[in-house]
Formats: sequence, structure tokens, C-alpha cells
Amino acid sequence: MLSHTYVALLTYITNVMALWPQPAEVSTGSGVLWLDPALTATFRCNGGDVVLFDYPPDLGKLPVLGFVNSAYQFAQTVWDEFQAFAGNHDFHGSKKAITETSIAQAAVHETIKSMHNTNFVPWKLHKRHSPFEPDVMAQRHYLSSLQIQQSHCPDVGAFDPLAFFAGDESYEIMIDNATATIQTNSTIGALWALQTFQQFFYAHSTHSGSYMLGTPARIVDRPKWRHRGLSVDIARNPFRPSDLTRTIDAMARTKMNRLHIHATDSQSWPLEIPSLPDLATKGAYQPHLVWSADSLEAIQIHGASRGVSVFVEIDMPGHTASVANAYPDLIAAYNRLDWSTFAAEPLSGQLKLNSTAVLTFVTTLLEDLLPRTRPYTSLYHIGGDEVNLAAYLLDETVASDEPQVLRPLLQKFIDHVIGIALQHGFQPVVWEEMLLDWNLTLPSVTNDNRKVSTLVQVWRNSERIKDVLKKGHRVIFGDYHHWYLDCGFGVFLEPYPSGKSPVGVPYNTSGGYPSKLKKPYLDYCNPFHNWRHIYTYDPLANISADLIDNIEGGEVLMWSEQTDSIDLDFKLWPRVAAAAEVLWTGVRHETMLEDASRRLGEWREREVTDHHTAMSPVHMTWCLMEGGCNL
Ligand SMILES: *[C@@H]1O[C@H](CO)[C@@H](O)[C@H](O)[C@H]1NC(C)=O
Ligand SMILES: *[C@@H]1O[C@H](CO)[C@@H](O)[C@H](O)[C@H]1NC(C)=O
Ligand SMILES: *[C@@H]1O[C@H](CO)[C@@H](O)[C@H](O)[C@H]1NC(C)=O
Ligand SMILES: *[C@@H]1O[C@H](CO)[C@@H](O)[C@H](O)[C@H]1NC(C)=O
Ligand SMILES: *[C@@H]1O[C@H](CO)[C@@H](O)[C@H](O)[C@H]1NC(C)=O
Ligand SMILES: *[C@@H]1O[C@H](CO)[C@@H](O)[C@H](O)[C@H]1NC(C)=O
Repeated sequence: MLSHTYVALLTYITNVMALWPQPAEVSTGSGVLWLDPALTATFRCNGGDVVLFDYPPDLGKLPVLGFVNSAYQFAQTVWDEFQAFAGNHDFHGSKKAITETSIAQAAVHETIKSMHNTNFVPWKLHKRHSPFEPDVMAQRHYLSSLQIQQSHCPDVGAFDPLAFFAGDESYEIMIDNATATIQTNSTIGALWALQTFQQFFYAHSTHSGSYMLGTPARIVDRPKWRHRGLSVDIARNPFRPSDLTRTIDAMARTKMNRLHIHATDSQSWPLEIPSLPDLATKGAYQPHLVWSADSLEAIQIHGASRGVSVFVEIDMPGHTASVANAYPDLIAAYNRLDWSTFAAEPLSGQLKLNSTAVLTFVTTLLEDLLPRTRPYTSLYHIGGDEVNLAAYLLDETVASDEPQVLRPLLQKFIDHVIGIALQHGFQPVVWEEMLLDWNLTLPSVTNDNRKVSTLVQVWRNSERIKDVLKKGHRVIFGDYHHWYLDCGFGVFLEPYPSGKSPVGVPYNTSGGYPSKLKKPYLDYCNPFHNWRHIYTYDPLANISADLIDNIEGGEVLMWSEQTDSIDLDFKLWPRVAAAAEVLWTGVRHETMLEDASRRLGEWREREVTDHHTAMSPVHMTWCLMEGGCNL
């Protein structure tokens, strides 16, 4: 039974469900449902024939518990004990097996927990002093049952990242009277449905209990693109594994599903490679900043449990000066004073190109790393950007900067790396230069086998999306003019004190950066790309319809010359969420900004209230309250 006040109120709430990212289809009624403290859930599969698990869990199978005083608290305590028992968040513990069923079970429990525990009172989304909450004196109707029905049962065997992440991501949610029904064809679809579900519930400002508006409701949803990624550079400045687990959680709440770790670069090598221990012990900024093999695995497991495929990039052959801390003989043009001739930023140094020692090193490295990441992802990023020609003049194994001389050697190097990746069942990802500047031959989609079609990541210019597609490759977009998150914070270099080059160093002839530094010290990709800019970037502009099917998706990228653990969240959010809606819902337009600022504004308020993710407001509070501020 709805109160009179409440029915009147709904007439000026234009969008009852402010969901982010926007689902494909939403239809809502005008009812209210409170969350039953004794809500039960059942996960069925195989067309409903098989009960995979129930919520609350079967107590007989779990550790005995102490005193608790409500059905809800009881269920949650059981679950927390179960989590502690399973050790899902233990970075130093022994290896744990995950399965699709354990992932689904954890997702159901965490969703129900967060629905009950939400503290989010959406006062900012309503006019000042308006009554926006359901009347607590009215009779309450409760949502008491959640039924998840998956058409196929998950494999009972070992977790298979290829099958899991390539699953049908579509889902349907129906809420009617006391029951919510979720329909999916795969576990990954169920995870996204549960993420949407969490966004339904609000806390009441004066009374206990969570409620949702707009019932009965039906949501039908599916993603536009398969690859919805964020790239984080953990090499230029120090990061901790917990920075990425926290990021994964927020990504999953926007249905982002790929975390690309740019794990090493010229400035530091934080990643432990047990068979080449000196790489990290000598190449990390400090011993305590080494990312152990166990911590990488824990991040990948955490990602898989959230539907996020966590994959690693060891950028090669450029961006490798940090290898010289351990293996100086493998690196050419190491740490030159005139670095700008040999690298895009200090310090210079890249792997020698015609060296069996380098190929042996690469084999040892990849035979160690790749079998460890493959249980949780089917992607491996081989790097390949910004290979510097001049560095090979100083490389005694080639002593040439002629593209015609270097190209066959680079092809051999890349064939070597991709060959190892393919042996381990990876789909390789490569930066655009390998295809577009060096014209290398890369395993192509034309053989119709997704596992061996190289994904080409475009960063320099949107026109190159088309160039990659025309060469028959699948593409990941992320043009720096639009989707780099590090832009607009200013240049990170100083002008040379005398205003000249160091003595004997001809770096001004190479168009070197330092001589160009002037107030106000803007960076190369300024201005700052605010969320509206990211949101309205159209990767399909100028691309003909016959080519767009080969777009795998996109990534926003966080390069870290001026970012570390302290400011990471501020720089990621809410802008990653803006990209997430482009990737999930499809290309956005300027006319959608008004609606987006309200929904993203609500997403931000929920995120900071319930998850304490640091980020700036999406809007001035008054604008949110008034339903927008237009020019
Ligand atoms: C599941 O698969 C069926 C058959 O391909 C399809 O019609 C449906 O849209 C898919 N998604 C959901 C949520 O049922
Ligand atoms: C929901 O409740 C209404 C009113 O009690 C009833 O008419 C309707 O059939 C119910 N719907 C379902 C799906 O049970
Ligand atoms: C590469 O190294 C081999 C063996 O040292 C040498 O014979 C060959 O000339 C080198 N290639 C180039 C392009 O320098
Ligand atoms: C690659 O092909 C383009 C276009 O044909 C050409 O301009 C370029 O020089 C080639 N690069 C190399 C390294 O051969
Ligand atoms: C599309 O092409 C036009 C005209 O060449 C150009 O101005 C625009 O920047 C292009 N857009 C993208 C996203 O590449
Ligand atoms: C740049 O190089 C030229 C010749 O190589 C030299 O005459 C000039 O002084 C240099 N300028 C600076 C700012 O170093």
C-alpha cells in the first residue's frame, strides 16, 4: 500500500531507477519494496532443474558459530566465517581453488550483504526538504525471495578463464511482489545482474531497513563490447596490490571487465619473477615495493571473483631500461644523458635486438610468468610501443637505425614472444606500432580462432582504429586525446637550468622536450579529460559499418608518472565509470549528458557512501537537487 505523499512524489522523479551503466531496457512501476531481513536466495541452473546453492548457506557444511541475534546477522556471520575459512582475501595464504560456483556463491552473499548494509540516503538527488522517502507509517511490502536461474550449469571442473569471461554477459531481472527473478545464460551474466541489483536499494534516513522504488520492474541488459578495460601503470611510481583489488571492486560495480596491468617499465621493475629474482630485487624502487608472485595471483583471483580478467603487460622491447639493474648486458643505450634521442621519457634503454642472450632471457621470463597468469586470464599483453630507432645504433648486435635492417629482427623478436604466449593458450595483445609502423605480421583473426587473433591496442589517434581494422585485426581503442587519465596535470620534466643542452649533448636537434618547456608547463596531452569529455568520445566516428564488428572494445589508461597509491582513486573516478557506460551501453551523445550527470552523480554518492572510494563530486549539490544545471 503506497502512502498518498509517496505517490505524489513519484510524479516528479523522472528516472526512478538511476542505474549506472544504463541498461539496455528498463521498465518500472510506482511501487516500493522493502528488503526482507530474512531474504532467501536460490541459484538454479540447467533450466531450473538443478539447485546450485541456497542462501543462507547450508549450516551443516560450515563451521559452528557463536551467538547471533537475527536471521540476517546469522546468515552474514555464517558467510563471513565461510570467507575467512576460504581465505578469499588473504594475500599471504596458500593457493586457493576457485570455481564458477564459488564465484557465484560469493557474489550472491556479498550482494545481499551490501543491500542490507547500504548507508546510502539519496538526499542529494532530490529537492531541498522534499519528502523523497517512502512513508514509514504505511504498510511495508517486502522482497523476500531472490531466484537466480541460469540456463546452463557452470563447469564443475577447474576454473577456465576463457569459458568464464567469454560467457554470455546478458541478463534479465524481474521484480514483482515479493520475488525477484534473475535470468542468465552464464555465471558472468549473473555477476552483472547482481551488480545492477545492488544499485536498487537505498537506506532510510530515519528508520532501519533498505528499500527500492519503481516496482514492479523489469530490466533486460547486455553489453555493447566484450573488452571493457582499464590500464594501470604500476612501474613509474610505487603502488600496492591493495590499490588494484580496491580498483577491481569499483570497476566491477560499473561492469568493467578487464584490468590491464602495465607491470614494468624503464623506471622500475616491481614484478617478482622467481626464476629471475634479481629483476625485482634490483629493479624495484625498494625491496618492500616488490609485487610477489603470490600477490599477483591474489589480485587475479580477486578479479576473477568479480568478473574482471586481470592480465599483465611486460612491455618489450622498448620501455625496458629497468632490466639493466639486474642484467646490464641485455640493454642498449642505457640511461643516456641525452635520453630524448633514445626514449620518450627518462631514462633511456631498450632490449638489444639481435642477441641470443635477450631471447633466452625472454624465454625464461615468459615461461615463468605466463603459466602463472593463465589460470585466471586468457590475455597477455606483449607491449611493443615506442620502439626507439636510435637506441639500436648504440646496440652492438645491430649498430643500425635503418627500419629495413631492424624490421626482420623485430619480427623475429615478436614472433618469439607471441609464440610463447600462444603455446600457453593466450590471446596476445600488442600496441598499434607493431602493426601500423613496423608492418609486422601478427596472428590474425582471419583464421577464425579467437585464441590466436592478436588484439591491437590503438592509442595515438582515432584514425588508427580504422587502419587496424582494414588490416584485418581486432582492435582495442583508447586514443590518448580522449581516454588517457594522466593528461592535463602538467609536464613532469624541468627545463634545463641554463636554458641550453648539457655540454656536448645535441638533444635540441632531436626536438627534445626540455628545450620546449615553457610556462604554464602543459603536458603533451593537455587539457585534463573530464568525465564529460570521456563520456562523449565516439570511437566509431569515421568507421564504416562493415568494419565495426572487429572492435573488441576499449580501455581508459592511467599512466603513472604523476600518480601513486595516494591519488590513484581521485584520478580514476568517476572518469573510469564514464568510460564504462560507453563500453557497456554503447556510444554516448551530447544530448545524454544531462541524464548522465544525474545518474553518475547518484553512482558517485553511493560509491563514496558505501565503499569510500575517493573522488570529486560529479555535480554541485544544488544542481543535483534541482535535476541538473543547463547552460
Ligand atoms: C540467453 O540465450 C537465449 C538464447 O540464445 C537468448 O534468447 C537470451 O536473450 C539470452 N539472455 C538471457 C538473459 O536470457
Ligand atoms: C502480484 O500481486 C498482485 C496483487 O496482489 C497480483 O494481482 C499479481 O498476480 C501478483 N503477481 C505475481 C507475479 O505474483
Ligand atoms: C645479427 O647477429 C648475427 C650473429 O652475430 C650477425 O651475423 C648478423 O649480421 C646480425 N644482423 C644484423 C642485422 O646486424
Ligand atoms: C610500413 O608500411 C608503411 C606503409 O606502406 C610504410 O610507410 C612504412 O615505411 C613501413 N614501415 C617499415 C618499417 O617498413
Ligand atoms: C572524423 O573525421 C573528421 C574529418 O576528417 C575529423 O575531424 C574527426 O576528428 C574524426 N573523428 C575521429 C573521432 O576520429
Ligand atoms: C642547438 O643546437 C645548435 C647546433 O647544434 C646550437 O648552435 C644551439 O646553440 C643549440 N641550442 C641550445 C638551446 O642548446
